[in-house]
Amino acid sequence: MNKIAVLPGDGIGPEVVAEAVRVLECLRDEHALAIELEYGLIGGAAYEAHGQPLPEETLALARAADAVLLGAVGGPRWEALPMALRPEKALLALRSALGLFANLRPAILFPQLASASTLRPEVVEGLDILIVRELVGGIYFGEPRGVRTLDTGERQGFNTLVYTESEIERVVRRAFEIARVRRHRVCSVDKANVLECTELWRETVMRVACEYPDVAVAHMYVDNAAMQLVRAPKQFDVIVTTNLFGDILSDEAAMLTGSIGMLPSASLNETDRGLYEPIHGSAPDIAGQNLANPLATILSVAMMLRYSLRQPDLAVRVEAAVSQALDAGLRTADLRDGIHETVSTRTMGEAVVAALRA
Ligand code: IPM
Ligand code: MG
Repeated sequence: MNKIAVLPGDGIGPEVVAEAVRVLECLRDEHALAIELEYGLIGGAAYEAHGQPLPEETLALARAADAVLLGAVGGPRWEALPMALRPEKALLALRSALGLFANLRPAILFPQLASASTLRPEVVEGLDILIVRELVGGIYFGEPRGVRTLDTGERQGFNTLVYTESEIERVVRRAFEIARVRRHRVCSVDKANVLECTELWRETVMRVACEYPDVAVAHMYVDNAAMQLVRAPKQFDVIVTTNLFGDILSDEAAMLTGSIGMLPSASLNETDRGLYEPIHGSAPDIAGQNLANPLATILSVAMMLRYSLRQPDLAVRVEAAVSQALDAGLRTADLRDGIHETVSTRTMGEAVVAALRA
């Protein structure tokens, strides 16, 4: 029996997670998937109930689980809280506590959505990129950090970009391993012309690359990578990069596929346990309106089936069901194209479940 911790979180999190849970329940009831779901609070929802965004019991639940399904955290209501109590802090603390150093963010274009991208169809058709983002180090976690008052009386904010060789090596290795089952290409993204820390990143990538002679390695500065992603995105196979650069580039890559509402993610540690979440945020502007796209969360379930639950066949079934819902012409508001019918979160979820049943 696999234990799955379900943490809906804030904003549209609960709505999109509800649809992903329906998918999991369908697989349990009709495809003999042995799972047990347990719910927990995280983010603003947890703060409201317990005065802290990551309660001890949620952390315990996540630690005991084989996989965690998370919606999204954050919202305007909690933006003025001290940093330590903000919803985003809970997500970072959870990633760190579970040692989830490898964040896999695939940007795949469903052919049905080629016209939903802001780029010309021929630029994005067939797009299949995987961004491997380092997730528990770098400037997100580096010390010292804070805001201090200088002798002049002026305040100064500061953060620290730090990576040890071993932190770089483990995520880079993961990227090379994955490239081996894809198109055998890794592009490491850094800012080695300016930042010493990423000079070490580049050196480490070169050293690790020697062990993977069958994988072609390239290095790119992050500014150029941001440009290449919109200029000629199909040149990329696997991109491996730091926490902050990966955060930025994965949002950019998401838009190539038409909507950030389509992109799932998996965050993995040394074992196969993982945290699965859509890469979009809590979208407070549309929360509670049954408008959000649940497909990124449903596709995150597919990643969970593949990486943590070792059910690759079911993963393929879920992805095929999503594709069928798109084939049927269903589009949530983020995918609105003036041609197809715009449907609710619920209707999209129902269509995926119906396709799974068929
Ligand atoms: C993401 C998000 C988070 C991050 C925020 C919510 C802390 O943007 O998962 O990409 O910066 O990692
Ligand atoms: Mg982000």
